[in-house]
Amino acid sequence: MDKIVVHGGHPVSGAVRISGSKNSALPILAATLLTKEPCVIHRVPDLSDVHYMLQILNRLGADVERASGVVTVRAEMVETIAPYDIVRKMRASVCVLGPLLGREKEATVSLPGGCVIGDRPIDLHLKGFEALGAAVRVHAGNVKVFAPELKGAKISLKGKFGTTVLGTDNVLMASVLADGVTVIEDAACEPEVVDLANFLNKMGARIEGAGTSRIVVEGVKELHSAEHEVIPDRIEAGTFLIAGAIAGREVTVTRARYDHLTAVTSALEACGFNIVGTNGAVTIRPNGSLHSLSLRTEPYPGFPTDMQAQMCALLATAKGDSMITENIFPQRFMHVSELKRMGAAIELDGATANIRGVNALSGAPVMASDLRASAALVLAGLQAEGQTEINRVYHIDRGYELIDEKLCSLGAQIERVKV
Ligand code: EPZ
Repeated sequence: MDKIVVHGGHPVSGAVRISGSKNSALPILAATLLTKEPCVIHRVPDLSDVHYMLQILNRLGADVERASGVVTVRAEMVETIAPYDIVRKMRASVCVLGPLLGREKEATVSLPGGCVIGDRPIDLHLKGFEALGAAVRVHAGNVKVFAPELKGAKISLKGKFGTTVLGTDNVLMASVLADGVTVIEDAACEPEVVDLANFLNKMGARIEGAGTSRIVVEGVKELHSAEHEVIPDRIEAGTFLIAGAIAGREVTVTRARYDHLTAVTSALEACGFNIVGTNGAVTIRPNGSLHSLSLRTEPYPGFPTDMQAQMCALLATAKGDSMITENIFPQRFMHVSELKRMGAAIELDGATANIRGVNALSGAPVMASDLRASAALVLAGLQAEGQTEINRVYHIDRGYELIDEKLCSLGAQIERVKV
């Protein structure tokens, strides 16, 4: 298990190129199961979560080839039972249910358990499949969905915490080959859902309204091969913008989508930073002192839950009191206890973190727990006095391509150490 050592106090500046989106690549790779013909996906990030998805596709019978960021999948024949030994490593594996149900009219995947960011139910996914005519059986930790045929239906994906991103993806993929029209109400509006819908339409699907809360799918008989480039990872881009805010003079993220980042850039401007976005590049510059802020995480286009931990790291040294309320995963505060080990003054009150700005953080050995919490600890280490050691770095490698090398290219003093 590697660890990352950050030597704080070194300013970062320059430009860093953003990778393809993890949360877009995973459902798009799953969607290649919907056709027997080959599909070519560009800008697939080199992440352990992507590696797991490619393993699952392979174990389901697909031929998978990867040449740097380009993945070719040819799923001429497919099994319908996803392998537990890989599925247990990645919750997002659940998004093979929809394409397998859509193509083979049955699928079995082990139920995703909880994780450090909280419970990860899939009741809304299953509600959508049942509306399309599938039966659902839960047994021995597995969920099996099967249907003699799938018929278009009207489905609402509204849940206790808003809508569901992978649930929208799953129902979308199950409905594209159903008989008739499916209307998904209260659908997720995330850019990653739009990217999946664009890929499915290239395959011959008939989807309208992706990016809005009402998506209409007209079922077709079959889908064909398609080629697609994954959108930039807006969470990676936001993470590097916060690196620039925490320790930067001027940092630019390139090959990014400014229009996917508005909630994050607005929050950073409210903290006192100057942001400029032009054709694929977004630049952050300090503009005086770092102000405190109150914000709440919300479904897109609101402030993303995947940026909450990184924002906590930034606001830990803002002047005054800040408050962040986590409305999507109310338990998603594993980073708080580790930031407090570095001197942050944060008190949790239910799903709200109350942050009193301190003058400086101090480096310390800390424990990574989930993907975004780990990134937040790296960001905190950039500004902390002294050395910060982040253990269990495999969490970061799930969702960030070469984060240490990219930060080094901006001038950070950071190294990966084999333990
Ligand atoms: C996706 O997870 C992302 N993962 C998450 O990013 C992201 O945090 C999340 O969407 C919210 O934006 C991928 O896309 C691979 P949800 P997903 O279903 O789809 C509840 C990262 O760091 N819910 O939108 O699994 C759920 O418990 C990861 O990259 C139900 O109640 O999340 C949560 O409170 C972490 N029933 C809320 O809805 C359901 O059937 C949103 O979950 C499904 C979800």
